[in-house]
Amino acid sequence: MAQKKAPKQGGLYDKLPSYGDAEFSVYLRTVFLKSMGYTEDALDRPIIGIANTYSAYNSCHATVPKLIEAIKRGVMLAGGLPFEFPVISLHESFSAPTSMYLRNLMSMDTEEMIRAQPMDAVVLVGGCDKTVPALLMGAASADVPAILEVTGPMLTGSYQGQRVGACTDCRSFWARFRAGEIAEEQLPDITDQLGPTPGTCMVMGTASTMALMTEALGVMLPGGATIPAVQSQRLRHAEQTGTQAVAMATSGLTLDKIMTPQAVENAIRVLLAIGGSTNGLIHITAMAGRLGIEVSLDRVDELARETPVIVDLKPSGEYYMQELHEAGGFATIMRTLAPLLDLEQITVSGQSLKQHLDAAPHWEQSIVSSLDNPLSPEGGLAVLRGNLAPGGAIIKQSASSNALRTHTGRAIVFDSVEDIATRIDDPDLDVTKDDILVMRNAGPVGAPGMPEAGYLPIPKKLAKAGIKDMVRISDARMSGTAFGSIVLHVTPEAAIGGPLSLIETGDMITLDIPARSLNVDLSDEKLKQRAAIRDKTPPRVTPSRGYAKLFDETILQADKGCDFDFLLKN
Ligand code: FES
Repeated sequence: MAQKKAPKQGGLYDKLPSYGDAEFSVYLRTVFLKSMGYTEDALDRPIIGIANTYSAYNSCHATVPKLIEAIKRGVMLAGGLPFEFPVISLHESFSAPTSMYLRNLMSMDTEEMIRAQPMDAVVLVGGCDKTVPALLMGAASADVPAILEVTGPMLTGSYQGQRVGACTDCRSFWARFRAGEIAEEQLPDITDQLGPTPGTCMVMGTASTMALMTEALGVMLPGGATIPAVQSQRLRHAEQTGTQAVAMATSGLTLDKIMTPQAVENAIRVLLAIGGSTNGLIHITAMAGRLGIEVSLDRVDELARETPVIVDLKPSGEYYMQELHEAGGFATIMRTLAPLLDLEQITVSGQSLKQHLDAAPHWEQSIVSSLDNPLSPEGGLAVLRGNLAPGGAIIKQSASSNALRTHTGRAIVFDSVEDIATRIDDPDLDVTKDDILVMRNAGPVGAPGMPEAGYLPIPKKLAKAGIKDMVRISDARMSGTAFGSIVLHVTPEAAIGGPLSLIETGDMITLDIPARSLNVDLSDEKLKQRAAIRDKTPPRVTPSRGYAKLFDETILQADKGCDFDFLLKN
């Protein structure tokens, strides 16, 4: 046989294992590839890796095998050789203690497998909340041309004539069940309808938010964010993505040329305009950090003050991703937001956002409103600071109650996720609707992994009395599908000595969203006294081995994206 000679570059000749003889490495690799039936012709093609996140534990990725088939078809139509490879897959309901605990592990897996295996470009196939940021964090660090295909949103279901979907309606049904308005016997029929097809949650939760933000970043071909998971258009988009990956392998279009500081700002604008998930801010901060781009909370708040909410999707609005797609999807949002965006940013297609916009058809629709007549004049998120959150905290103001935008109340403090689960429904709990529920030790280090536990339940006795919202504060995160006057990501977190660790039940706290402040009515002197007492208590027990130890020692706070400190670009 005519042996391949090193040192050719790319394709099969890329990333050879070290035997001290490059020609032998190529020869040996050829043997093993031929054992799978590849011909000499196939071996001379550019190799396109496809990161396969299919898992039986990930319902949001149930369509990944069909997507990969379409991506492979696109790669081969363009003359490339597709190689799928497994990476970690994370689903929100099948990742204990929380998928966020494992996001960085998935990003490391992705980065190292891209680095280790021969590939001239990589297609990232993700969808469920943490998978998209993890894949992009890894690919950005690996510095290989990369393009994203998301699985796409589910279609909606119907319960007793009411249109329902995952998972804003999951939460409202559960709240009604807790309030005694729904019987336990009804739950099986309800759960039959909340997730009626494969795909990602079809409200403006974290998956939808990340899909739209990544299309704004430029890492996905036009239109990919909103195509429903089960439509044939999704497969055509995947095929085109495979074809484009081959072009990127030739042009060497890596993510650092696409995810520029201006592109990151575009993505944050979109996050604010869509009333997106608070998680989107953590993830964009982490993705940008992999390329040495810093996201400042102060700049985010500046953008929020001048970026209105224009997309009418649950949980802040009325509709679902299906309607947004039928209204023109991302292009409709982008067309409206155009005066606030930098449309010259280049994307994976090799074209600019402006070129995508010019090519996209448009028509009358009512899901995306105009800048002159927005759903809310300010962006979905607000950044809060004060003596309770010197490093910042976040509130999804688009999902909070108007009556609670400025509120002073008595703190009712819970020490952990477990503590709140134990006591919140105690009929003897001294709590009124005007109190402020505070939960601590649920941050990146404390829980660990910063679970989506910030949507603290309304105490059952108040829920039964018809109370739907209260001010709630924690160092945890919240699912993008949730709603309420909920302050999240309090930084620094309690577990590393943040002021949240000093609050006692009965302290008076003031939330003032217009003033962007979060304060407890305690003097600096008083806080210092309490800190001195707290510091005499035994330190928390830290993990002694494995991933838990690595996590505990290197996890950054929410304002830094919760990445590991050693993964940031130097
Ligand atoms: Fe996967 Fe909602 S659980 S997107």
